[in-house]
Amino acid sequence: MTNSKSPAGQPRTKLFLLIAAAAVVAFVLLLALIMNATQSSETPSITVDSYADEVAAALDGADASIGEKLIADTECATCHVAGEGRVAPLFAGIGSTAGDRRPPLSAEQYLYESIVLPAAHLVAGYANAMPSNYAQRYSSADLGHMIAYLLTLAET
Ligand code: HEC
Repeated sequence: MTNSKSPAGQPRTKLFLLIAAAAVVAFVLLLALIMNATQSSETPSITVDSYADEVAAALDGADASIGEKLIADTECATCHVAGEGRVAPLFAGIGSTAGDRRPPLSAEQYLYESIVLPAAHLVAGYANAMPSNYAQRYSSADLGHMIAYLLTLAET
């Protein structure tokens, strides 16, 4: 009597184990996919070519004096000038430091990223407080004017 049960029970147990194992594998794969997706959107990998086309287009015909006015007359100055360095880093000397901030990005590429994708890299000691929609609010030409102006602010 006890023997007659096991032949019928065993295949079912095997099937159950198989399904359970498949479910675990599927779950782990899904988890890996989700983690990969969130990681790549948080930390985009940068290369010497990152933003190169956008920066070249923006700087084509850029005018530092227009950039100076844009920054002084808009909210950039609220945090970066009026904040006296407490809210946001001061722009003084940024033309010299920008090139070392985030290798392998050049000074121009770093400044471009700092404005259109500020969360990608935070200056040490500061919060992620900068608006993240400047790519929509400024034209490529205006971004170029601002970058051209910031590049003139070399350390003396
Ligand atoms: C609400 C405050 C705020 C406003 C407005 C703002 N920023 Fe910022 N900005 C910050 C903070 C805080 C940081 C430092 C954290 C970081 O790196 O994102 C920063 C960092 C930067 C950096 C990098 C500075 C460095 O020393 O490496 C640049 C360049 C910059 N901002 C440009 C601009 C420009 C141009 C505008 C206007 C179009 C602007 N910001 C508007 C708060 C602000």
